[in-house]
Amino acid sequence: MPRPLFHLTPQRHWMNDPNGLVFHRGRWHAFFQYNPEGSDWGNMSWGHASSADLQHWEELPVALRYRPGEQVYSGSVVVSSPGENGQLVAYYTSAFADGRQAQSRAISDDGGLTWQRDVDNPVLDRGTNAFRDPKIIRFQDHDGGFRWIMLAVEADDRQVLFFSSTDLRSWEHLSTFGPIGATGVVWECPDLIPLAVDGRADDVRWVLLLSTNPIGEDADPEGSSMSFVIGQFDGTAFTAESSNLQRLDHGRDFYAGVSFDSAPDGAAVILAWMSNWRYAGNVPSSPWRGAMSLPRRLSLISVDGEPRLVQEPPTFVTERLASVTPTTLLGSPEPLGLILSGHSLVDLSWDPATTGRLRLHLQGDADAVVELVHDIEPQLLRVTRSGVAVDAVHPDFSSTNAVPLAADGKARLLLSLDGPLLEVFVNGGRATNSNLVMLGSGSVSLTLETEQESPVTMSAVDLPSPAKIASPMTNKPLPAFV
Ligand code: FRU
Repeated sequence: MPRPLFHLTPQRHWMNDPNGLVFHRGRWHAFFQYNPEGSDWGNMSWGHASSADLQHWEELPVALRYRPGEQVYSGSVVVSSPGENGQLVAYYTSAFADGRQAQSRAISDDGGLTWQRDVDNPVLDRGTNAFRDPKIIRFQDHDGGFRWIMLAVEADDRQVLFFSSTDLRSWEHLSTFGPIGATGVVWECPDLIPLAVDGRADDVRWVLLLSTNPIGEDADPEGSSMSFVIGQFDGTAFTAESSNLQRLDHGRDFYAGVSFDSAPDGAAVILAWMSNWRYAGNVPSSPWRGAMSLPRRLSLISVDGEPRLVQEPPTFVTERLASVTPTTLLGSPEPLGLILSGHSLVDLSWDPATTGRLRLHLQGDADAVVELVHDIEPQLLRVTRSGVAVDAVHPDFSSTNAVPLAADGKARLLLSLDGPLLEVFVNGGRATNSNLVMLGSGSVSLTLETEQESPVTMSAVDLPSPAKIASPMTNKPLPAFV
């Protein structure tokens, strides 16, 4: 499986959840669940990478290493005081060999390279076995008072516990949210993000993010996924505006997503792990295993008076696409073809009322295909991965996922394909669908068919690896459609 070129992967070994995402001293830092000794889950520690642009990542030494009897599970980092000299404070879950899980603290004075663990660890302990994934956020009262809020799950109880602190050391339990939604899952990696609807400061809603993983003998074979619920947070308790959890990403491989602390302009930027606990250990990549998604910026817009979550791709993606002149093609039942490098961005827009059904087909040198089909009735985009190379990964790896995509009005898709990572943004991020794909390691052919003859506008571009930026190859025009 080819290594992604514009996503974070570890040089070697196993990676899962993003941890401690923080923007500090002009750089984006991602810590992550990491096995420093092998390509299977275990010896959990925090790996570390940083980036100036969220596209090119530099891997740094392991930040927090497991110790005999204690693994370092997921958690978060905050900049404890504003400015360049602020200390970084990390909270992570100490997963002890006796099964107990409790929250521990570490500080860094050198921008996250080295960490000192607190002598009083674990500093927050309920004596339970599934208390994990602390996420620290900031809360400003109406009267100007400021507090740190910690969210952590009691995973088996499907609950998020809220705590507050003024010194980032001692925590008071405020409230508990849940359980709601499907049973037969554990809740993991919560986050709570304030977003101003349509950018209006007087209409801030709070979006609770959750990752849910099916457990038990009859566990759902679709495996782990992310959900969200929109609500209000008054500094003490979260109140959901609906009794349902909504799916955050409709694909199979988007998990444990959380936001960066201190992102410029207060932007809500999340990264997620692009895999699924159902088969993560079977994904055939070597010598690394695990990749992060593209960073996404979250916002809320109002649609028919209701807040709706939007997940936008990063600017390096939209700017690269905007740098090429779109081509208008005549879609027809006769397939049109294009060769992509396999590390590529494709932006498509069309009018479903005139094209009818639209079908995209991706195939590389592996014995597998990816198909994206938009049907007018039902108004769904279905993404299917299938084939011998797909079935070889795991019996539950072949998949079809559907995303709502209206058929009245213009439709737009942005496909980001980076080796095994396919992320689809529907209508500017109003829905997303992220999946690992098995297209092999060479170039990938993309074919397009529409039911009726009608124009389809397309921009397609290969995204070069850092080493190739200066190469004249990257400026060659796209191969013509055949
Ligand atoms: C989520 C998770 C977390 C835990 C970590 C362990 O994927 O199960 O709940 O902290 O992974 O690696």
